[in-house]
Order: sequence, then C-alpha cells, then structure tokens
Amino acid sequence: MKISVVGSGYVGLITSAGFAEKNHNVICVDIDSRKVDLINARKPPIYEKGLQDILDHVIPKYLQASMDLATAVLETDVTFICVGTPSDNDGSVNLKYVKEVAAEIGRVLAKKDSYHVVVTKSTIIPGSTEDHVIPVLERESGKKAGKDFGVVMNPEFLREGVAVEDFLNPDRIVIGSLNNMDGDMVEKIYRNFKAPILRVDLKTAEMIKYTSNSLLATKVSFINEIGNICKELGVDIYDVANGVGLDHRISPSFLNAGPGFGGSCFPKDVKAMVHKAKEVGIEPILLEAVLKVNENQPKRVLELLKENYDLADAKVTVLGLAFKAGTDDMRESPAIPLVEGLVAAGAKVTAYDPQAMEHAKSELPKISYAKTVRDALSGSELAIIMTEWEEFKKLDFSQMAKKRVFDTRKILNTDLMAEDVEYMGLCW
Ligand code: UDX
Repeated sequence: MKISVVGSGYVGLITSAGFAEKNHNVICVDIDSRKVDLINARKPPIYEKGLQDILDHVIPKYLQASMDLATAVLETDVTFICVGTPSDNDGSVNLKYVKEVAAEIGRVLAKKDSYHVVVTKSTIIPGSTEDHVIPVLERESGKKAGKDFGVVMNPEFLREGVAVEDFLNPDRIVIGSLNNMDGDMVEKIYRNFKAPILRVDLKTAEMIKYTSNSLLATKVSFINEIGNICKELGVDIYDVANGVGLDHRISPSFLNAGPGFGGSCFPKDVKAMVHKAKEVGIEPILLEAVLKVNENQPKRVLELLKENYDLADAKVTVLGLAFKAGTDDMRESPAIPLVEGLVAAGAKVTAYDPQAMEHAKSELPKISYAKTVRDALSGSELAIIMTEWEEFKKLDFSQMAKKRVFDTRKILNTDLMAEDVEYMGLCW
C-alpha cells in the first residue's frame, strides 16, 4: 500500500520507517527542510535505537522524505497525520497543527478522484476526530467523510528510546473508524504485524490512548507515593514492588519508584484528561492527585537532600538529565526542577548525561556540563542519580572528594560498591 505520513517527529518518523520496513511505499512529509534533507541522507534527526539501521536499508526504495504534501497525498492511498498536539495553558490539547494539516489534506482531496483514507495518529482528546478533523476535511474538500473519503483514528503507543521496537512489535493495534471499509484499509497496512487488532469507533480509539497513558502514569505516582511512605518506615520500595508485581493482576511493569514521570506524553495526556473531565462535569479526583504526586516528587528529592547534606557551596554532580534512559529528551524531565532547586540552594552543580546535554543546555543554562561521567564526578562532594543510564550502574565513584551518592532510581549494585561510598535513596 502507498502511504504518506505528515510530520517527521518521534511518531511520524518511526511510523514512516516502520511501515517502510514492512515494505510499504512511504512518503514522509515535513515543513522543515533540514529534517527532510537529513532523512533523505539516511541521517536520523532524532536519537532512537534501531532507526539508523532501518533508514539505511529503506531509503530511497521504500521511504522518501518530502516537503510537498499535495503530491504525497495525490500519490498515496492513505495519509497518517502525525503532527504535535501541545498543551495549552489550561491543560487542554491544542489542535492547531492537526487542523492545519487536515485543511491542507482536504484541499488536495478536493482534486483527487480515487478514494483516500485520512488517519489521525497524533494524540487527540476523545471526540476530536469527529468534532474537528472531519469538519475541516469536509469543509476544505467539499466532500463527505465516510462516503467520498475515509477517516480513521489509529493511536500510537510508542515509548521513546524503544519506539522502533514498539512500532514493529506492538501489544495491540487499535483502529477506530467511521465505517468498516476505512478500518479494513488500515487493517491491511498492518497485515504483517503479529498483534491483536482491535476495531472500535473513532472516539473509543482516542479514549483508549488517553486511558492507557493515564493508567500507566497512575501506577508511577502510586508507587512513588508508597515509596515515600516506605522511606519513612525504613522499608525498601523496590522489594515491595517485586512482591506486589508478581501478582498477575498487577504486573511488575511501571512499578519502579523514582523522581516522577516526565516526557512528551504522560504529563500532557493526564492534564488533557483532567481538563476534558471537568469540561464534561466530572471531578477527576484521582487524575489530579496523580499530577500532584508527580509534581511533588522532585521536591521530595530536594527535601531529602537538604535534610541530609549542606548544599550551600557544595560541589554537586547530577548524573542523568533526560526524563528516562534511552532518549535525549528533556521535556518535563524531573531533573529540571531538581537542578533549579539545587542552584537556588547555593550548590555548584555539574551535570552529565550521555545523550541529553545539548537539549539540557537551553533549559538549564546556569550549571556546568562535563564531557564524561568521570569529569563530572571529579572532586564532587555529592552525586545525584536522576536517570537510569546503564553507564551509571558500573561507577566506583573513586574520583569524588566525598563519596556520597543519592540514587533516585536505585540502579547501583551495592555488592559491587566500595565500602566507603555513602549510598542513600529516595524511596528506600
Ligand atoms: C509513554 C507511553 O509509555 C507510550 O505508550 C506513549 O505513547 C508515549 O508516552 P514515554 O514517554 O516514552 O512513553 O516513556 P515511558 O517509558 O512510558 O515512561 C514515562 C515516564 O514514567 C518516564 O519519566 C519514566 O522514567 C517514568 N517511569 C516509568 C517511572 O518512573 N517508573 C516506571 O516504573 C516506569
């Protein structure tokens, strides 16, 4: 099947590369000429495991990037909308980019004779496809959705860092459609994927995405709150989580206590769900608490640091800035409020992250950045582990002036650690 994908960010590029890997012909469209050139030169504009390999063998045979949306729509059968849906100040989802792209696609559909299916993959609040995407497509094309062109909602469940793996081996594929024929067309695209396919209506598909992320975020805030209680009780939350996660009704996933969830999805999606709930007259008591626990978690790190160490003028090393390991993404990273709090407390902060330092420099300009983890630890009086990078797990901390380590994720193996390292944690 010939596919066009609008947007070449995390979702759009992985979707394009993934479908190309499955031997579909894909045109990936972006307004950013730099990204288009990079992709066509087989250089991934983002860091994502496995992406380079795929680009190496699908470009140009199965995948091409372009700035020409009209030609891309005219030459393909299905278009996936994969543009960003940022948060507005009130937490609601801003559909500006989705609507702009829908309008452009609609204007092309006005001139296209063959049946075309428009698929939204961007995360949009339940009701958005029906209330916003379809009206824009119909207005600009002068045609009728479900009769003259198809509309589908096909949410993504891609974790940054392992997005390629998640795309090619999904737990499930959700296809929400206006009518069966449109859903069938998209189901055909996924025929070589080994995963259950769920056929639902448009609004249900949108809601499945928000519910998944809200539930996962709830698990994280839940375990963090229990972890905070454990710390006071002298209990290790990681042992507790092991015991709890073995119950098959609960599962061990997303029970790792830490400094709180970040990234481009969880904070934004839970806020959007809270906003929508209020709009329809439901008080989202639990979801608001999930956000509150999450906001407090970096403050809790700081509180414990202040209780245990004198931070004024102390040489402090922050290990890990990305919101999680495996990505260079700093969006909503708990390291941001933590570093700001350390600076406000008078600490002299040096940070190191294997991937995220370039992005971090604009967010956190007032601190020093070290080229290597060894440089970062040299002469330091306190190291704080914020991100669970593999390379931090084997450190011996011998370069530190005072060997004091505060680990928010409990990633170090105490059996391998030198006896003179003072090791303390957030939830244990
Ligand atoms: C998430 C969803 O998992 C994905 O399906 C969706 O489409 C996009 O959002 P992502 O943001 O890449 O993916 O990260 P994820 O691996 O889900 O982790 C989210 C946050 O929760 C991270 O900050 C992570 O550190 C934190 N987390 C996760 C924990 O603190 N503990 C856990 O046990 C799991």
